[in-house]
Amino acid sequence: MKRLLALLFAFTLLPAGAAPAKHHMIAAANPYAAEAGLEMLRQGGSAVDAAIAAQMVLTLVEPESSGIGGGAFMLVFDPKTGKVTSFDGRETAPTSATPGMFLDAAGNPRPHRDAIPGGLSVGVPGAVAMLELAHKKYGKLAWAKLFEPAIQLAENGFPVTKKLARLLAANPDIAAMPDIKRYFARPDGTLVKAGDRLKNPDLAATFRAIAKGGARAFYTGAIAQAIVDKVHNGSIQPGGMTLKDLARYRAVERAPVCTIYRVYKLCSMAPPSSGGIAVLQILKLVERFSSPQLAPNTLDGVHLFAQASRLAFADRGRYVGDPAFVAVPVKGLLDPTYLKDRSRLINATSDMGEASPGTPPHTRADFAPPDTKEREGTSHMSIVDDAGRVVSMTTTVEFLLGSEMMAKGFILNNQLTDFSFVAVKDGKMVANAPAPGKRPLSSMAPTIVFGKDGKFLIAVGSPGGPAIIDYVAGTLVAMLDGGLDPARAVALPHVLNMNGPLVLEQNPALTALVPRLTAKGYEVRTLQNESSGLHVIERVPGGYIGAADPRREGVAVGD
Ligand code: DON
Repeated sequence: MKRLLALLFAFTLLPAGAAPAKHHMIAAANPYAAEAGLEMLRQGGSAVDAAIAAQMVLTLVEPESSGIGGGAFMLVFDPKTGKVTSFDGRETAPTSATPGMFLDAAGNPRPHRDAIPGGLSVGVPGAVAMLELAHKKYGKLAWAKLFEPAIQLAENGFPVTKKLARLLAANPDIAAMPDIKRYFARPDGTLVKAGDRLKNPDLAATFRAIAKGGARAFYTGAIAQAIVDKVHNGSIQPGGMTLKDLARYRAVERAPVCTIYRVYKLCSMAPPSSGGIAVLQILKLVERFSSPQLAPNTLDGVHLFAQASRLAFADRGRYVGDPAFVAVPVKGLLDPTYLKDRSRLINATSDMGEASPGTPPHTRADFAPPDTKEREGTSHMSIVDDAGRVVSMTTTVEFLLGSEMMAKGFILNNQLTDFSFVAVKDGKMVANAPAPGKRPLSSMAPTIVFGKDGKFLIAVGSPGGPAIIDYVAGTLVAMLDGGLDPARAVALPHVLNMNGPLVLEQNPALTALVPRLTAKGYEVRTLQNESSGLHVIERVPGGYIGAADPRREGVAVGD
Protein backbone atom coordinates (compact mmCIF):
# COMPACT_ATOMS: atom_id res chain seq x y z
CA MET A 1 0.00 0.00 0.00
CA LYS A 2 2.87 2.37 0.91
CA ARG A 3 4.65 1.69 -2.36
CA LEU A 4 1.42 2.14 -4.25
CA LEU A 5 0.86 5.48 -2.58
CA ALA A 6 4.41 6.61 -3.42
CA LEU A 7 3.82 5.62 -7.04
CA LEU A 8 0.52 7.38 -7.02
CA PHE A 9 2.09 10.62 -5.88
CA ALA A 10 4.98 10.25 -8.32
CA PHE A 11 2.95 9.64 -11.44
CA THR A 12 -0.69 10.40 -11.12
CA LEU A 13 -1.20 13.52 -9.08
CA LEU A 14 -2.31 16.09 -11.58
CA PRO A 15 -1.61 19.69 -10.61
CA ALA A 16 -3.22 22.51 -12.58
CA GLY A 17 -1.69 22.70 -16.01
CA ALA A 18 -0.55 19.06 -16.04
CA ALA A 19 -1.32 16.80 -18.98
CA PRO A 20 -4.85 15.49 -18.84
CA ALA A 21 -5.65 11.94 -17.77
CA LYS A 22 -6.60 10.04 -20.91
CA HIS A 23 -8.64 7.16 -19.59
CA HIS A 24 -10.14 7.66 -16.17
CA MET A 25 -10.00 9.93 -13.16
CA ILE A 26 -11.24 10.33 -9.60
CA ALA A 27 -11.30 13.46 -7.45
CA ALA A 28 -12.06 12.76 -3.79
CA ALA A 29 -11.48 14.15 -0.31
CA ASN A 30 -8.59 11.94 0.77
CA PRO A 31 -5.60 10.42 -1.12
CA TYR A 32 -6.23 6.90 0.23
CA ALA A 33 -9.86 7.03 -0.88
CA ALA A 34 -8.90 8.38 -4.31
CA GLU A 35 -6.24 5.68 -4.60
CA ALA A 36 -8.76 2.93 -3.78
CA GLY A 37 -11.08 4.27 -6.48
CA LEU A 38 -8.20 4.52 -8.94
CA GLU A 39 -7.19 0.91 -8.22
CA MET A 40 -10.70 -0.18 -9.25
CA LEU A 41 -10.66 1.98 -12.38
CA ARG A 42 -7.29 0.46 -13.37
CA GLN A 43 -8.74 -3.02 -13.00
CA GLY A 44 -11.50 -2.18 -15.45
CA GLY A 45 -14.00 -1.21 -12.78
CA SER A 46 -16.80 1.25 -13.47
CA ALA A 47 -17.11 4.70 -11.94
CA VAL A 48 -19.69 3.19 -9.57
CA ASP A 49 -17.20 0.49 -8.50
CA ALA A 50 -14.63 3.22 -7.84
CA ALA A 51 -17.15 5.23 -5.81
CA ILE A 52 -17.93 2.23 -3.60
CA ALA A 53 -14.25 1.49 -2.93
CA ALA A 54 -13.61 5.18 -2.20
CA GLN A 55 -16.64 5.42 0.11
CA MET A 56 -15.49 2.45 2.17
CA VAL A 57 -12.05 4.03 2.60
CA LEU A 58 -13.60 7.40 3.48
CA THR A 59 -15.62 5.65 6.22
CA LEU A 60 -12.26 4.83 7.77
CA VAL A 61 -10.02 7.81 6.96
CA GLU A 62 -12.54 10.68 6.90
CA PRO A 63 -15.05 9.40 9.48
CA GLU A 64 -15.88 12.95 10.52
CA SER A 65 -17.54 13.55 7.15
CA SER A 66 -19.10 10.44 5.63
CA GLY A 67 -19.43 6.70 5.88
CA ILE A 68 -21.61 3.63 5.94
CA GLY A 69 -23.44 4.98 8.99
CA GLY A 70 -24.69 7.92 6.89
CA GLY A 71 -26.45 8.66 3.62
CA ALA A 72 -25.58 9.80 0.10
CA PHE A 73 -26.83 10.93 -3.28
CA MET A 74 -25.20 9.63 -6.46
CA LEU A 75 -25.68 10.89 -10.01
CA VAL A 76 -24.60 8.53 -12.79
CA PHE A 77 -24.20 9.35 -16.48
CA ASP A 78 -24.23 6.34 -18.77
CA PRO A 79 -22.82 7.20 -22.23
CA LYS A 80 -24.38 4.03 -23.65
CA THR A 81 -27.89 5.34 -23.13
CA GLY A 82 -26.97 9.02 -23.02
CA LYS A 83 -29.02 9.27 -19.80
CA VAL A 84 -28.38 10.58 -16.32
CA THR A 85 -29.97 8.79 -13.41
CA SER A 86 -29.62 9.27 -9.68
CA PHE A 87 -29.65 7.14 -6.58
CA ASP A 88 -31.13 8.40 -3.33
CA GLY A 89 -29.53 6.90 -0.24
CA ARG A 90 -30.86 9.53 2.12
CA GLU A 91 -31.47 8.47 5.71
CA THR A 92 -35.09 7.98 6.78
CA ALA A 93 -36.75 8.83 10.08
CA PRO A 94 -37.64 5.77 12.17
CA THR A 95 -41.29 4.90 12.85
CA SER A 96 -40.91 6.46 16.30
CA ALA A 97 -40.28 9.95 14.81
CA THR A 98 -42.82 12.63 15.66
CA PRO A 99 -43.36 16.18 14.35
CA GLY A 100 -42.35 17.58 17.74
CA MET A 101 -39.30 15.39 18.30
CA PHE A 102 -36.91 18.36 18.42
CA LEU A 103 -39.07 20.66 20.56
CA ASP A 104 -38.49 21.30 24.26
CA ALA A 105 -41.08 20.75 27.01
CA ALA A 106 -42.53 24.21 26.36
CA GLY A 107 -42.97 23.41 22.66
CA ASN A 108 -40.09 25.60 21.47
CA PRO A 109 -37.40 24.39 19.04
CA ARG A 110 -34.36 23.18 20.95
CA PRO A 111 -30.97 24.74 20.22
CA HIS A 112 -29.74 22.92 17.11
CA ARG A 113 -26.36 21.92 18.55
CA ASP A 114 -28.00 20.34 21.62
CA ALA A 115 -30.16 18.05 19.49
CA ILE A 116 -27.22 16.53 17.58
CA PRO A 117 -25.49 14.08 19.97
CA GLY A 118 -27.16 10.80 20.88
CA GLY A 119 -29.67 8.40 19.38
CA LEU A 120 -32.59 10.75 18.71
CA SER A 121 -30.92 12.41 15.72
CA VAL A 122 -29.88 9.16 14.02
CA GLY A 123 -31.67 8.38 10.75
CA VAL A 124 -31.75 4.89 9.23
CA PRO A 125 -28.48 4.92 7.24
CA GLY A 126 -28.88 4.81 3.47
CA ALA A 127 -25.39 4.72 1.95
CA VAL A 128 -24.91 0.93 1.88
CA ALA A 129 -28.31 0.18 0.30
CA MET A 130 -27.76 2.93 -2.26
CA LEU A 131 -24.29 1.71 -3.22
CA GLU A 132 -25.63 -1.83 -3.62
CA LEU A 133 -28.48 -0.60 -5.82
CA ALA A 134 -26.07 1.40 -8.01
CA HIS A 135 -23.69 -1.57 -8.17
CA LYS A 136 -26.46 -3.90 -9.36
CA LYS A 137 -27.04 -1.55 -12.27
CA TYR A 138 -23.56 -0.24 -13.06
CA GLY A 139 -21.02 -2.42 -11.23
CA LYS A 140 -18.44 -4.33 -13.27
CA LEU A 141 -16.16 -5.72 -10.57
CA ALA A 142 -17.33 -8.14 -7.87
CA TRP A 143 -18.94 -6.38 -4.88
CA ALA A 144 -16.54 -8.02 -2.39
CA LYS A 145 -13.49 -6.79 -4.29
CA LEU A 146 -14.51 -3.17 -3.69
CA PHE A 147 -13.99 -3.61 0.05
CA GLU A 148 -10.40 -4.89 -0.19
CA PRO A 149 -8.52 -1.57 0.06
CA ALA A 150 -10.63 -0.42 3.03
CA ILE A 151 -10.24 -3.76 4.85
CA GLN A 152 -6.46 -3.67 4.39
CA LEU A 153 -6.21 -0.12 5.65
CA ALA A 154 -8.52 -0.75 8.62
CA GLU A 155 -6.45 -3.75 9.65
CA ASN A 156 -2.98 -2.31 9.00
CA GLY A 157 -3.76 1.24 10.09
CA PHE A 158 -3.90 4.61 8.36
CA PRO A 159 -2.26 7.92 9.22
CA VAL A 160 -4.66 10.30 10.98
CA THR A 161 -5.10 13.37 8.79
CA LYS A 162 -4.44 16.94 9.87
CA LYS A 163 -8.12 17.81 9.43
CA LEU A 164 -9.31 14.98 11.68
CA ALA A 165 -6.66 15.69 14.33
CA ARG A 166 -7.45 19.39 14.24
CA LEU A 167 -11.15 18.92 14.68
CA LEU A 168 -10.72 16.41 17.51
CA ALA A 169 -8.34 18.76 19.31
CA ALA A 170 -10.66 21.72 18.80
CA ASN A 171 -13.81 19.95 20.06
CA PRO A 172 -14.51 20.96 23.65
CA ASP A 173 -17.32 18.38 23.93
CA ILE A 174 -15.15 15.35 23.30
CA ALA A 175 -15.15 14.37 26.98
CA ALA A 176 -18.90 13.80 26.64
CA MET A 177 -18.50 11.50 23.62
CA PRO A 178 -17.37 8.14 25.04
CA ASP A 179 -17.16 6.28 21.69
CA ILE A 180 -15.16 9.04 20.03
CA LYS A 181 -12.89 9.45 23.04
CA ARG A 182 -12.18 5.72 23.16
CA TYR A 183 -11.57 5.18 19.45
CA PHE A 184 -9.39 8.23 18.92
CA ALA A 185 -7.28 7.74 22.08
CA ARG A 186 -3.55 7.10 22.14
CA PRO A 187 -2.38 4.47 24.65
CA ASP A 188 -1.72 7.27 27.17
CA GLY A 189 -5.34 8.42 26.91
CA THR A 190 -4.65 11.64 25.00
CA LEU A 191 -6.24 12.17 21.58
CA VAL A 192 -4.50 10.98 18.40
CA LYS A 193 -2.40 13.52 16.50
CA ALA A 194 -1.89 14.02 12.77
CA GLY A 195 0.28 11.23 11.38
CA ASP A 196 -0.52 8.72 14.17
CA ARG A 197 -1.35 5.30 12.74
CA LEU A 198 -4.89 4.29 13.65
CA LYS A 199 -6.36 0.81 13.20
CA ASN A 200 -10.03 -0.10 13.22
CA PRO A 201 -10.47 -3.89 13.50
CA ASP A 202 -14.20 -3.51 14.28
CA LEU A 203 -14.73 -1.68 11.01
CA ALA A 204 -12.62 -4.25 9.13
CA ALA A 205 -14.95 -6.97 10.46
CA THR A 206 -18.00 -4.90 9.43
CA PHE A 207 -16.57 -4.46 5.92
CA ARG A 208 -15.91 -8.21 5.67
CA ALA A 209 -19.50 -8.94 6.67
CA ILE A 210 -20.97 -6.53 4.09
CA ALA A 211 -18.50 -7.68 1.43
CA LYS A 212 -19.76 -11.23 1.93
CA GLY A 213 -23.42 -10.71 2.72
CA GLY A 214 -24.25 -7.52 0.79
CA ALA A 215 -26.46 -4.75 2.17
CA ARG A 216 -28.56 -7.41 3.92
CA ALA A 217 -25.67 -8.00 6.31
CA PHE A 218 -25.86 -4.32 7.26
CA TYR A 219 -29.62 -3.90 7.58
CA THR A 220 -30.28 -7.18 9.43
CA GLY A 221 -28.37 -9.31 11.92
CA ALA A 222 -25.50 -8.29 14.18
CA ILE A 223 -24.68 -4.93 12.56
CA ALA A 224 -28.32 -3.79 12.60
CA GLN A 225 -28.61 -4.94 16.22
CA ALA A 226 -25.52 -2.94 17.18
CA ILE A 227 -26.97 0.20 15.54
CA VAL A 228 -30.28 -0.22 17.39
CA ASP A 229 -28.52 -0.91 20.71
CA LYS A 230 -26.42 2.22 20.33
CA VAL A 231 -29.39 4.40 19.38
CA HIS A 232 -31.29 3.17 22.45
CA ASN A 233 -28.46 2.96 24.96
CA GLY A 234 -25.96 5.62 23.88
CA SER A 235 -25.03 7.92 26.71
CA ILE A 236 -27.60 10.67 25.97
CA GLN A 237 -30.91 11.38 24.18
CA PRO A 238 -31.98 7.85 23.23
CA GLY A 239 -33.84 7.35 19.96
CA GLY A 240 -36.47 4.81 19.02
CA MET A 241 -35.04 3.17 15.87
CA THR A 242 -35.94 -0.53 15.59
CA LEU A 243 -34.64 -3.53 13.67
CA LYS A 244 -37.77 -3.25 11.54
CA ASP A 245 -36.87 0.34 10.58
CA LEU A 246 -33.49 -0.89 9.37
CA ALA A 247 -34.81 -3.96 7.56
CA ARG A 248 -37.35 -1.77 5.78
CA TYR A 249 -34.88 0.78 4.40
CA ARG A 250 -34.89 1.13 0.60
CA ALA A 251 -32.64 3.24 -1.60
CA VAL A 252 -34.49 4.88 -4.49
CA GLU A 253 -33.52 5.41 -8.12
CA ARG A 254 -34.87 8.81 -9.19
CA ALA A 255 -34.92 10.99 -12.26
CA PRO A 256 -32.54 13.92 -11.72
CA VAL A 257 -33.55 17.56 -12.20
CA CYS A 258 -32.13 19.04 -15.41
CA THR A 259 -32.14 22.39 -17.20
CA ILE A 260 -30.40 24.21 -20.02
CA TYR A 261 -28.08 27.05 -19.00
CA ARG A 262 -26.89 29.00 -22.05
CA VAL A 263 -25.57 26.18 -24.29
CA TYR A 264 -25.05 23.67 -21.51
CA LYS A 265 -27.28 20.96 -20.12
CA LEU A 266 -27.04 20.54 -16.35
CA CYS A 267 -28.43 17.71 -14.25
CA SER A 268 -28.44 17.55 -10.47
CA MET A 269 -30.12 15.83 -7.52
CA ALA A 270 -33.91 16.00 -7.20
CA PRO A 271 -35.83 16.14 -3.88
CA PRO A 272 -35.41 15.13 -1.09
CA SER A 273 -32.42 17.27 -1.86
CA SER A 274 -33.08 20.94 -2.39
CA GLY A 275 -29.55 21.28 -3.76
CA GLY A 276 -30.23 20.47 -7.39
CA ILE A 277 -33.27 22.70 -7.77
CA ALA A 278 -31.54 25.62 -6.02
CA VAL A 279 -28.31 25.36 -8.05
CA LEU A 280 -30.27 25.22 -11.32
CA GLN A 281 -32.50 28.12 -10.22
CA ILE A 282 -29.50 30.32 -9.42
CA LEU A 283 -28.04 29.71 -12.87
CA LYS A 284 -31.34 30.38 -14.64
CA LEU A 285 -31.83 33.55 -12.56
CA VAL A 286 -28.48 35.00 -13.70
CA GLU A 287 -28.76 33.74 -17.28
CA ARG A 288 -30.15 37.05 -18.63
CA PHE A 289 -26.91 38.81 -17.60
CA SER A 290 -23.80 38.53 -19.77
CA SER A 291 -20.90 36.27 -18.81
CA PRO A 292 -18.55 39.26 -18.20
CA GLN A 293 -21.15 40.78 -15.83
CA LEU A 294 -20.94 37.61 -13.73
CA ALA A 295 -17.12 37.65 -13.41
CA PRO A 296 -15.95 36.40 -9.99
CA ASN A 297 -14.53 38.93 -7.50
CA THR A 298 -16.24 41.88 -9.19
CA LEU A 299 -18.98 44.10 -7.78
CA ASP A 300 -21.54 43.06 -10.39
CA GLY A 301 -20.54 39.41 -10.22
CA VAL A 302 -20.96 39.27 -6.43
CA HIS A 303 -24.18 41.30 -6.43
CA LEU A 304 -25.99 39.42 -9.20
CA PHE A 305 -25.01 36.04 -7.78
CA ALA A 306 -26.09 37.04 -4.26
CA GLN A 307 -29.49 38.25 -5.51
CA ALA A 308 -30.13 35.04 -7.45
CA SER A 309 -29.10 33.01 -4.43
CA ARG A 310 -31.53 34.95 -2.18
CA LEU A 311 -34.39 34.11 -4.54
CA ALA A 312 -33.44 30.44 -4.80
CA PHE A 313 -33.13 30.07 -1.03
CA ALA A 314 -36.56 31.65 -0.52
CA ASP A 315 -38.19 29.01 -2.75
CA ARG A 316 -36.07 26.20 -1.34
CA GLY A 317 -37.23 26.98 2.18
CA ARG A 318 -40.90 27.11 1.31
CA TYR A 319 -41.46 24.33 -1.18
CA VAL A 320 -38.94 21.52 -0.90
CA GLY A 321 -39.21 18.38 1.25
CA ASP A 322 -39.38 14.61 0.82
CA PRO A 323 -41.51 14.08 -2.33
CA ALA A 324 -43.02 10.95 -0.80
CA PHE A 325 -44.66 13.20 1.81
CA VAL A 326 -45.14 16.64 0.25
CA ALA A 327 -46.15 17.79 -3.22
CA VAL A 328 -42.93 19.54 -4.29
CA PRO A 329 -43.64 21.67 -7.41
CA VAL A 330 -40.36 20.58 -9.04
CA LYS A 331 -41.49 21.41 -12.56
CA GLY A 332 -42.81 24.80 -11.53
CA LEU A 333 -39.68 25.71 -9.59
CA LEU A 334 -37.63 25.09 -12.73
CA ASP A 335 -40.12 26.54 -15.20
CA PRO A 336 -38.13 28.91 -17.48
CA THR A 337 -40.94 31.51 -17.65
CA TYR A 338 -41.37 31.48 -13.88
CA LEU A 339 -37.63 31.94 -13.42
CA LYS A 340 -37.50 34.72 -16.02
CA ASP A 341 -40.16 36.57 -14.01
CA ARG A 342 -38.35 35.92 -10.74
CA SER A 343 -35.11 37.20 -12.28
CA ARG A 344 -36.79 40.58 -12.90
CA LEU A 345 -36.78 41.08 -9.13
CA ILE A 346 -33.02 41.51 -9.40
CA ASN A 347 -31.98 45.11 -9.92
CA ALA A 348 -28.46 46.12 -10.72
CA THR A 349 -28.17 48.91 -8.18
CA SER A 350 -29.29 47.60 -4.80
CA ASP A 351 -29.89 44.57 -2.61
CA MET A 352 -33.54 43.47 -2.65
CA GLY A 353 -33.39 42.56 1.05
CA GLU A 354 -35.01 39.35 2.25
CA ALA A 355 -36.61 37.65 -0.75
CA SER A 356 -40.07 36.12 -0.51
CA PRO A 357 -40.79 32.79 -2.11
CA GLY A 358 -42.53 32.97 -5.48
CA THR A 359 -45.62 31.09 -6.60
CA PRO A 360 -44.32 28.59 -9.11
CA PRO A 361 -46.77 27.01 -11.52
CA HIS A 362 -48.09 23.55 -10.60
CA THR A 363 -48.03 24.38 -6.88
CA ARG A 364 -50.53 22.09 -5.20
CA ALA A 365 -49.89 22.83 -1.55
CA ASP A 366 -48.97 25.84 0.50
CA PHE A 367 -46.33 25.40 3.16
CA ALA A 368 -45.11 27.52 6.03
CA PRO A 369 -41.60 28.96 6.01
CA PRO A 370 -38.98 26.60 7.41
CA ASP A 371 -36.83 26.55 10.45
CA THR A 372 -33.96 24.39 9.30
CA LYS A 373 -30.28 24.71 9.96
CA GLU A 374 -27.72 22.29 8.61
CA ARG A 375 -24.14 21.76 9.70
CA GLU A 376 -20.74 20.24 8.84
CA GLY A 377 -19.76 16.68 7.99
CA THR A 378 -19.91 15.74 4.31
CA SER A 379 -17.68 14.69 1.38
CA HIS A 380 -17.93 14.84 -2.41
CA MET A 381 -16.30 12.72 -5.13
CA SER A 382 -16.33 12.97 -8.93
CA ILE A 383 -15.29 10.01 -11.11
CA VAL A 384 -14.98 9.14 -14.81
CA ASP A 385 -14.18 5.60 -15.98
CA ASP A 386 -12.72 4.11 -19.17
CA ALA A 387 -16.14 3.77 -20.79
CA GLY A 388 -16.96 7.43 -20.13
CA ARG A 389 -19.42 6.68 -17.32
CA VAL A 390 -19.52 9.50 -14.81
CA VAL A 391 -20.32 9.52 -11.10
CA SER A 392 -20.93 12.63 -9.03
CA MET A 393 -21.63 11.63 -5.43
CA THR A 394 -22.07 13.64 -2.25
CA THR A 395 -22.08 11.64 0.97
CA THR A 396 -22.63 12.67 4.57
CA VAL A 397 -22.95 11.89 8.27
CA GLU A 398 -24.39 15.46 8.61
CA PHE A 399 -22.51 17.18 11.48
CA LEU A 400 -18.79 16.65 12.06
CA LEU A 401 -18.67 13.14 13.60
CA GLY A 402 -22.44 12.76 13.08
CA SER A 403 -24.35 11.91 16.26
CA GLU A 404 -20.98 11.50 17.98
CA MET A 405 -21.68 7.80 18.51
CA MET A 406 -20.15 4.71 16.90
CA ALA A 407 -21.39 1.17 16.26
CA LYS A 408 -19.23 -1.68 14.88
CA GLY A 409 -16.41 0.73 14.03
CA PHE A 410 -18.35 3.42 12.16
CA ILE A 411 -19.92 6.77 13.02
CA LEU A 412 -23.72 7.03 13.21
CA ASN A 413 -25.23 10.02 11.40
CA ASN A 414 -27.33 12.81 12.93
CA GLN A 415 -29.23 13.44 9.71
CA LEU A 416 -32.62 13.87 11.42
CA THR A 417 -31.54 17.31 12.63
CA ASP A 418 -31.79 18.33 8.95
CA PHE A 419 -35.57 18.31 9.51
CA SER A 420 -37.23 21.58 10.43
CA PHE A 421 -37.51 21.56 14.22
CA VAL A 422 -40.81 23.44 13.89
CA ALA A 423 -43.42 21.30 12.11
CA VAL A 424 -46.37 23.67 11.96
CA LYS A 425 -46.28 27.45 11.61
CA ASP A 426 -49.22 29.84 11.29
CA GLY A 427 -51.50 26.81 11.04
CA LYS A 428 -49.61 25.49 8.01
CA MET A 429 -47.36 22.47 7.77
CA VAL A 430 -43.65 23.05 7.11
CA ALA A 431 -42.63 21.03 4.03
CA ASN A 432 -39.59 19.66 5.85
CA ALA A 433 -41.39 18.68 9.09
CA PRO A 434 -40.28 15.40 10.74
CA ALA A 435 -42.48 12.32 10.16
CA PRO A 436 -42.00 8.55 10.41
CA GLY A 437 -40.31 7.11 7.32
CA LYS A 438 -39.62 10.58 5.89
CA ARG A 439 -36.29 11.74 4.45
CA PRO A 440 -34.98 15.06 5.81
CA LEU A 441 -34.34 17.86 3.35
CA SER A 442 -30.78 18.04 2.04
CA SER A 443 -28.72 20.66 0.23
CA MET A 444 -26.36 18.19 -1.41
CA ALA A 445 -26.02 18.95 -5.10
CA PRO A 446 -23.97 16.39 -7.01
CA THR A 447 -24.11 17.81 -10.54
CA ILE A 448 -23.12 16.75 -14.07
CA VAL A 449 -22.82 19.21 -16.98
CA PHE A 450 -22.90 18.47 -20.71
CA GLY A 451 -21.31 20.69 -23.34
CA LYS A 452 -22.93 22.09 -26.44
CA ASP A 453 -21.74 18.97 -28.29
CA GLY A 454 -23.95 16.99 -25.89
CA LYS A 455 -20.94 15.24 -24.39
CA PHE A 456 -20.04 15.06 -20.72
CA LEU A 457 -18.21 18.22 -19.65
CA ILE A 458 -18.06 18.66 -15.84
CA ALA A 459 -18.76 16.66 -12.68
CA VAL A 460 -18.92 18.73 -9.51
CA GLY A 461 -20.25 18.79 -5.95
CA SER A 462 -19.27 19.85 -2.45
CA PRO A 463 -19.94 19.51 1.26
CA GLY A 464 -20.93 22.58 3.28
CA GLY A 465 -24.55 22.23 4.43
CA PRO A 466 -26.83 24.78 2.76
CA ALA A 467 -23.74 26.64 1.54
CA ILE A 468 -23.24 23.69 -0.86
CA ILE A 469 -25.77 25.37 -3.13
CA ASP A 470 -23.67 28.52 -3.49
CA TYR A 471 -20.36 26.64 -3.63
CA VAL A 472 -21.58 24.53 -6.54
CA ALA A 473 -23.45 27.32 -8.37
CA GLY A 474 -20.47 29.69 -7.92
CA THR A 475 -18.03 27.11 -9.29
CA LEU A 476 -20.27 26.50 -12.28
CA VAL A 477 -20.53 30.23 -13.07
CA ALA A 478 -16.73 30.50 -12.77
CA MET A 479 -16.19 27.57 -15.15
CA LEU A 480 -19.04 28.04 -17.64
CA ASP A 481 -19.11 31.85 -17.79
CA GLY A 482 -15.57 32.66 -16.67
CA GLY A 483 -13.85 29.82 -18.51
CA LEU A 484 -11.77 28.94 -15.44
CA ASP A 485 -10.20 25.50 -15.19
CA PRO A 486 -11.22 23.32 -12.21
CA ALA A 487 -8.19 24.20 -10.06
CA ARG A 488 -8.72 27.94 -10.43
CA ALA A 489 -12.48 27.65 -10.01
CA VAL A 490 -12.31 25.73 -6.71
CA ALA A 491 -9.69 28.12 -5.33
CA LEU A 492 -11.88 31.21 -5.79
CA PRO A 493 -13.08 32.86 -2.57
CA HIS A 494 -16.72 32.00 -1.87
CA VAL A 495 -19.73 34.31 -1.99
CA LEU A 496 -22.83 33.13 -0.11
CA ASN A 497 -26.30 34.50 0.35
CA MET A 498 -28.84 32.20 1.96
CA ASN A 499 -31.43 34.97 1.92
CA GLY A 500 -29.83 36.75 4.86
CA PRO A 501 -26.52 38.55 5.27
CA LEU A 502 -24.02 38.48 2.41
CA VAL A 503 -21.20 36.18 3.47
CA LEU A 504 -17.80 36.65 1.85
CA GLU A 505 -14.87 34.33 2.36
CA GLN A 506 -11.86 36.23 3.70
CA ASN A 507 -9.88 37.37 0.67
CA PRO A 508 -8.41 40.72 -0.40
CA ALA A 509 -10.28 40.75 -3.73
CA LEU A 510 -13.65 40.45 -1.96
CA THR A 511 -12.71 42.67 0.99
CA ALA A 512 -11.99 45.48 -1.48
CA LEU A 513 -15.64 45.32 -2.57
CA VAL A 514 -17.15 45.60 0.91
CA PRO A 515 -17.71 49.40 1.00
CA ARG A 516 -19.53 49.32 -2.34
CA LEU A 517 -21.55 46.24 -1.34
CA THR A 518 -22.55 47.94 1.91
CA ALA A 519 -23.63 50.95 -0.14
CA LYS A 520 -25.93 48.63 -2.10
CA GLY A 521 -27.66 47.80 1.17
CA TYR A 522 -26.02 44.50 2.12
CA GLU A 523 -25.21 43.45 5.63
CA VAL A 524 -21.79 41.95 4.89
CA ARG A 525 -20.10 39.28 6.99
CA THR A 526 -16.60 38.02 6.30
CA LEU A 527 -15.73 34.47 7.27
CA GLN A 528 -12.50 32.54 7.26
CA ASN A 529 -12.14 28.90 6.26
CA GLU A 530 -15.36 28.28 4.44
CA SER A 531 -16.20 24.59 4.68
CA SER A 532 -16.37 23.70 1.00
CA GLY A 533 -14.76 20.54 -0.40
CA LEU A 534 -15.33 20.87 -4.13
CA HIS A 535 -14.03 17.94 -6.18
CA VAL A 536 -14.29 18.57 -9.88
CA ILE A 537 -13.53 16.76 -13.13
CA GLU A 538 -13.68 18.46 -16.53
CA ARG A 539 -13.40 16.87 -19.94
CA VAL A 540 -10.83 18.69 -22.08
CA PRO A 541 -9.35 17.84 -25.50
CA GLY A 542 -7.39 14.62 -25.01
CA GLY A 543 -8.92 13.57 -21.69
CA TYR A 544 -9.81 14.89 -18.26
CA ILE A 545 -8.45 17.40 -15.78
CA GLY A 546 -9.57 17.59 -12.19
CA ALA A 547 -9.11 19.50 -8.98
CA ALA A 548 -9.52 19.13 -5.25
CA ASP A 549 -10.59 22.00 -3.04
CA PRO A 550 -7.48 23.54 -1.40
CA ARG A 551 -9.52 23.97 1.82
CA ARG A 552 -9.55 20.19 2.34
CA GLU A 553 -7.13 17.28 1.90
CA GLY A 554 -8.30 15.71 -1.34
CA VAL A 555 -6.63 14.92 -4.67
CA ALA A 556 -7.59 14.39 -8.29
CA VAL A 557 -5.79 11.39 -9.75
CA GLY A 558 -6.01 9.52 -13.02
CA ASP A 559 -4.18 7.84 -15.91
O1 DON B 1 -27.71 16.93 3.57
C1 DON B 1 -27.28 18.04 3.81
O2 DON B 1 -27.48 18.99 3.09
C2 DON B 1 -26.41 18.26 5.04
N1 DON B 1 -26.64 17.26 6.02
C3 DON B 1 -24.97 18.29 4.60
C4 DON B 1 -24.04 18.70 5.70
C5 DON B 1 -22.74 19.19 5.17
O3 DON B 1 -22.56 19.35 4.00
C6 DON B 1 -21.68 19.55 6.11
N2 DON B 1 -20.42 19.78 5.40
N3 DON B 1 -19.40 20.15 5.70
